[in-house]
Amino acid sequence: MDNRMTVAFVGCGNFAKGFVPLFKAHPFVKKVYVCDLVAETAQKYAKAFHVEIIDTYEQVLANPNITCVANFTQRHIHADIVIRALKAGKHVYSAVPMASAVEECQEIVRLVKETGLTYLMGETCYYYPCAMFCRETYAAGKFGDFTYGASQYYHHIDSISYGKRPNEGGMPPLLYPTHSTGMILSAVHSYARKVVCFGYKDRTKDGRFETGKNQWDNEFSNQYVLMELANGGTARVTEARTFGWYKPSSYISALYGTQGGYEFSNAQHILVQSAWENDKEKVKLSDVSDYVNTDGMVENKHDADFKEKVANGEWQWNNVAAVQQKEMQRLPQAFETEPNGHMATHKLLVDDFCRAVFKKEMPVLNAWTAARYTIPGLVAIESAKQGGIPLDVPDCGDPPRIQRV
Ligand SMILES: NC(=O)c1ccc[n+]([C@@H]2O[C@H](COP(=O)([O-])OP(=O)(O)OC[C@H]3O[C@@H](n4cnc5c(N)ncnc54)[C@H](O)[C@@H]3O)[C@@H](O)[C@H]2O)c1
Repeated sequence: MDNRMTVAFVGCGNFAKGFVPLFKAHPFVKKVYVCDLVAETAQKYAKAFHVEIIDTYEQVLANPNITCVANFTQRHIHADIVIRALKAGKHVYSAVPMASAVEECQEIVRLVKETGLTYLMGETCYYYPCAMFCRETYAAGKFGDFTYGASQYYHHIDSISYGKRPNEGGMPPLLYPTHSTGMILSAVHSYARKVVCFGYKDRTKDGRFETGKNQWDNEFSNQYVLMELANGGTARVTEARTFGWYKPSSYISALYGTQGGYEFSNAQHILVQSAWENDKEKVKLSDVSDYVNTDGMVENKHDADFKEKVANGEWQWNNVAAVQQKEMQRLPQAFETEPNGHMATHKLLVDDFCRAVFKKEMPVLNAWTAARYTIPGLVAIESAKQGGIPLDVPDCGDPPRIQRV
């Protein structure tokens, strides 16, 4: 019996095009369908990737041959798509974020627990080189006990797909928190217990971040949240949509523990440790840039405009960093000729999902983890609205070791 997966993509916008070829090429996948509300959009995908169209999402849900849904719809409508898929018995790969309300995240966790189906939130930054470096270094005990860290996702609203859409452009930045929360929380294996949040109320009055101009009545274009973590440390997370430049950029800028730290600035990664030498304490700085920067960056590090080129996104799509190499070894051979994306993370995420479904394993970016990356942002939005009051963050707990269908 051929028990490989059949995957239906829901949403054929900008982002999904990097993923259709990967799902098609994966050895555990039998067939890929595409579906979009806009017929011409689905047709473009069908032509470009030689895949079959299913006209409506209702038809996807009703088709017993389709075992998995890949959700690539707009950021703020994920819960409805995902909950309906799980209720129809489909495994779900979902682009970030998990959902737009705390109760929706909790409902997805509940359904995954009840059904034993696979849910994976495709958080690209989980496999970003700086996140992997900090995870690895923290796990090796080189930071000691975690004290404070900071991460951010800068993406100017003018260069995001929804930025100019009426009613959507003014989305609260922390409705999309998982790039920044995911990096720091995964690095120190913890989750938020409490948040306080402030923000910048946009003053351009361009019809986006204004009361009455978006469906959330949101005025903040940048939000900064301080999270008290369960492990006793504190993390600052920034989601910024108006700032000085246009390129997207997400990274951990600093991470400190009782025994060492990590600092990043403009393509330079420094591991800070202190040691006693001849009865004198000495700060040791190790430049780990060649390990954390991608191979393209390392090759071109003497380029006169190196840092400016990195700031403009050069060598960050397909290129692989040394810290990622070990993880890449488990990818199927069929991926070798396929495109990658977002710091070479797409292939790892697709492989994670296919393995989880096919081998009945719990993926690392499971529903419980997705809730821990998403919910703090949603609670922080409320904190900012109320002038920065401290609010408790509900936690869905650790994933159980359940036998999955
Ligand atoms: N690094 C990352 O992780 C990253 C980067 C970019 C985008 N994303 C995520 O990818 C997703 C897609 O982003 P995008 O920029 O491609 O969005 P997009 O707006 O370009 O595309 C969304 C598509 O979904 C379709 N759609 C919506 N509801 C549907 C339904 N019920 N049935 C069928 N089709 C439906 C729309 O018609 C549209 O074509 C978002 O969730 C976004 O958060 C993640």
